[in-house]
Amino acid sequence: MAPFLAILLATAYLVTAQTSTPVACPSIPASVNYVANPKLPDPFLPLSGTRITKKDQWACRKEEIKQLMYRYEFGVMPPKPSSVTASFSSNSLKITVSEGGKSTSFSVSIKLPSSGTAPYPAIIAYGAPSLPVPNTVATITYQNFDIAADNGRGQGKFYDIYGKDHSAGAMIGWAWGVSRIIDALEKTPDAKIDPKRVGVTGCSRNGKGAMVAGAFEDRIALSLPQEGGQGGAGCWRIADEIQKNGTTVETAHQIVNGDTWYSNDFKKYVDVVPTIPFDNHMMHALYAYPPRGVLIIENTAIDYLGPPSNYHCAAAGSKVFEAMGIKDYMGFSSNSHSNHCGFPSAQQPELTAFIGRFLLGKDSKTDVFKTDGKFTIDEKRWIDWSVPSLT
Ligand SMILES: *[C@@H]1O[C@H](CO)[C@@H](O)[C@H](O)[C@H]1NC(C)=O
Repeated sequence: MAPFLAILLATAYLVTAQTSTPVACPSIPASVNYVANPKLPDPFLPLSGTRITKKDQWACRKEEIKQLMYRYEFGVMPPKPSSVTASFSSNSLKITVSEGGKSTSFSVSIKLPSSGTAPYPAIIAYGAPSLPVPNTVATITYQNFDIAADNGRGQGKFYDIYGKDHSAGAMIGWAWGVSRIIDALEKTPDAKIDPKRVGVTGCSRNGKGAMVAGAFEDRIALSLPQEGGQGGAGCWRIADEIQKNGTTVETAHQIVNGDTWYSNDFKKYVDVVPTIPFDNHMMHALYAYPPRGVLIIENTAIDYLGPPSNYHCAAAGSKVFEAMGIKDYMGFSSNSHSNHCGFPSAQQPELTAFIGRFLLGKDSKTDVFKTDGKFTIDEKRWIDWSVPSLT
């Protein structure tokens, strides 16, 4: 084989297209030339500079966005470990992961639903669910801080395997654990969970975590990120402007100080956010292919969560779903209430609809995009690109 070809193969990323045929996508260059852009970057414009025109091309654009997010923001998601084994007894699923001569184990608890028939759909809850899980869906309780500590960088079972200096921040560690739970469910029919109908949820920092998990794990059928604010629903660029305008909000600059959630490399970019070749609307867009459901649940009454940023960022993300012909796979619901991580009944209809459609196979209507925020909604202020008609 010609040496240049070997190099090409070594650096290409394989992705699976909707047809299940693996497609080789080019890897991102070692140094990315990106002209600082104060608006939300065009998700349809790859680094090549030629806007995509076909739905198929989203597979490689998605891969490019993932690689960019790993490099700039989150740190790298390791490939599937060489061995994952599981055992199930008395509602506890024990998962053992081995890689590179190291191994670790963790357990999740499974609460089966009181009605329906096995194998059941399930929702993996970071910590514990902050929203009502219906009695037709199992709850899998995941202690994500054991996998990557919320306090103390490089601590937790993820780092026991990959080393404390691994580039991944806690958010990737948590998502990696979700992937291992699904690996385990796939090999453990005794657990009575259908691995093709698994959702994920979390609130606040775990709301960001739930958003990230489904963005990087295509086997998640539905994500229900709750009150994650900036880094979950919201975009870093808009958060910076809210802060500049005088309202305290969680910004990229603030988030890298003290918190373990992001890669250390993110620190290089948090004061020059417009030079980042993406924003979080492009993380929402990762759910558009292969198509999965995502309902962003936000709270308009808490300024720190950045309600206008959440709205505008999600509006930008939903344009990718629109272009892919699946606009109603992404929902946005922001409601004012004083209890952070409480779940108001006003948001129950959309929660029921999304769980119904994406976990219970019902034909429910999921066309939801709403806020009770009184802020100005000027889309052109953030979005200077149009929705292409992809063929
Ligand atoms: C910041 O203030 C300007 C000027 O009033 C306004 O146009 C803009 O929408 C505000 N930005 C955000 C994100 O609220």
